Amino acid sequence: MELKKGIFISFEGIEGTGKTTQAKLLSSRLAGEGHDTVLTHEPGGTVIGGRIREILLLPEHKEMSYVTELLLYNAARAQHLTERILPAIAEGKIVITDRFTDSTLAYQGYARGIDMALISSLDRMATGGVRPGLTILFDLDVEEGLKRNRGINKVDRLELEDVAFHKRVRAGYLKIAEGEPERVKIVDASLPPEEVGRRVWEIVKAVMSEE
Ligand code: TMP
Repeated sequence: MELKKGIFISFEGIEGTGKTTQAKLLSSRLAGEGHDTVLTHEPGGTVIGGRIREILLLPEHKEMSYVTELLLYNAARAQHLTERILPAIAEGKIVITDRFTDSTLAYQGYARGIDMALISSLDRMATGGVRPGLTILFDLDVEEGLKRNRGINKVDRLELEDVAFHKRVRAGYLKIAEGEPERVKIVDASLPPEEVGRRVWEIVKAVMSEE
């Protein structure tokens, strides 16, 4: 099957959904079919973005204000887009990013309560309005996600927030998906990983073979 080139896909979800594993799986499936694929993540994906990530996620940075946090995520995104994502798309590659703008809407907007208009205007500055053509939202019960993450001993500053915070993140994501059903496809992350992978693959193939 002839698939479209230069596609931009984001993976989103709360902590512990397995989206990082699924992003790797999709990337290797696409590569296996001969596609030039770039797998990347936020915050990060560049040297500068990686440094910003450290500042953002170190658990001891408890004093970080919400506005500082918002600006740093956007700074990392601006760098990621210009240095990595846009050049790859221009070369006809498929870009899969583990998190993008929807993370900021869900975490800093819906969960922290920062004004959405302010978030959107900063997003326009950081991205110039570039959006993924497809976003896969891995949806999972919050307690289950946090339990899975504790199982792998992963702790970062945002994971230390309480369950209510993560519930607002999840609800925010579902609202985004409801508002943009064409772009955002929900996958039930409580299913076995093979089944999740199969569903992701079906969605990606369908979107990429569209005219
Ligand atoms: P992760 O890459 O391990 O998922 O960690 C990134 C953390 O940063 C995660 O807790 C979600 C959070 N985050 C935001 O709060 N806003 C954002 O814009 C992004 C990209 C991530």
